[in-house]
Amino acid sequence: MSTPVTCTDTSDALRARMVEELRAKKWIRTQPVADAMGSLAKESFLPGADLALVYSADDTVPVKRNADGHTVSSASAPWLVAHMLEEARIQPGDRVLEIGGARGINAALAAQLVGPAGRVVSVEIDPELVDDARAALAGAGITNVDMRCGDGHYGAADAGPFDAVIVTAQATDLATTWREQAAPGARIVVPLTLLGLSRCYTFQPCEDGGGSWRAERQLLCGFVAMQGDGAHRAERIALPGDAELHVTDALDVAADRVLGLAQGEQKRVWTGVQVARMEPVIPHLDQYLSTRLTPYLRYFGPSGQILDPGGERLSWLGIGHSATATTGALTYVVMRQVDERFHEFGVFAHGPDAGQAAQRLADLVRRWDAEFRGGADAVVHAFPADTPDGSLPPGRVVDRPGTRFVIAQAAR
Ligand SMILES: C[S@@+](CC[C@H](N)C(=O)[O-])C[C@H]1O[C@@H](n2cnc3c(N)ncnc32)[C@H](O)[C@@H]1O
Repeated sequence: MSTPVTCTDTSDALRARMVEELRAKKWIRTQPVADAMGSLAKESFLPGADLALVYSADDTVPVKRNADGHTVSSASAPWLVAHMLEEARIQPGDRVLEIGGARGINAALAAQLVGPAGRVVSVEIDPELVDDARAALAGAGITNVDMRCGDGHYGAADAGPFDAVIVTAQATDLATTWREQAAPGARIVVPLTLLGLSRCYTFQPCEDGGGSWRAERQLLCGFVAMQGDGAHRAERIALPGDAELHVTDALDVAADRVLGLAQGEQKRVWTGVQVARMEPVIPHLDQYLSTRLTPYLRYFGPSGQILDPGGERLSWLGIGHSATATTGALTYVVMRQVDERFHEFGVFAHGPDAGQAAQRLADLVRRWDAEFRGGADAVVHAFPADTPDGSLPPGRVVDRPGTRFVIAQAAR
């Protein structure tokens, strides 16, 4: 449990407590990352921000909003900053490329890890933030960060090759330039949205000479969206009951058809598969279903717990629920509270084929429980965009302008 913050806490005390918490939770795993995060006075990069928020291990600090009020830049949450720095395995003397520099906090931490013999190039698309970051870095006496204004989709060709690339805006592609500007054996740590699922991946080059990269671990995360030439179109379809369907990879799904299905009669199937409170298996189930449902969509209910007219205590997750749609049914995973400790997965479907569709998805959830639950994360392979189908390994293929991703999840 976190120690309560008092108004007399100084920056040093709050920072030390944050590092202690990040160590205890294993987000910080090495001494250099602890030293870097323990010595950077973050508040000088975030003028006006509340000191307790600045040093909260779990919170982001909003930095800029657009005209609609949506956050377009923030200082990332320290737990995720620590995770990404650890995953990047930065060594003294390394060259690091950061995409999405914002106010320069992560760049300053990476600068400490590379030391005086190394260099960090940080690309930020917003000129105002670049100016702020440059001033804050200079104020902190940090001289080995090259803060650049530009579209990070193109990397920094003149300054590579890079030993590590850290992307801190939500990407949907592993840009060709990042791979081309990476040194042999480099790591690319990147938050990617594939099939509507946002995960932080650590990609490493495969040794097969085919130019492919592979990520074996993943972590649920969310960043502000990538702007510029790497931005990706996504759609949100408003549904009855304050619900929404998010479509990121099947953009031919017709909104009016889905809406028509959603207004049709509902069928419910309960799977008998339970999940304990705080048991971290839902991202694994989602990833499994994403490799089996075509199209794979995300259904967002009204959020939180509701007692629905059917008498069930339903729980809607803020990260959304796995869903799919055919010409005859809109189908999605739901959760109902069984008791204080357990929820049960179920499936709701609407439309003329709802009965069969709900049974099929419920069977998939049961199969995940019997054969995959508790197994390893899905492995994501990234191949150059011109790789022919015949050269791809088995798995769910997601095509993006620069990359053919193949997602494969092995049974337990
Ligand atoms: C979550 S913030 C980055 C946090 C930051 N690395 C830190 O140290 O706290 C994401 C940033 O990415 C920037 N961004 C979005 N798209 C970009 C692009 N194509 N190239 C460079 N920066 C981009 C945004 O302006 C925003 O400042």
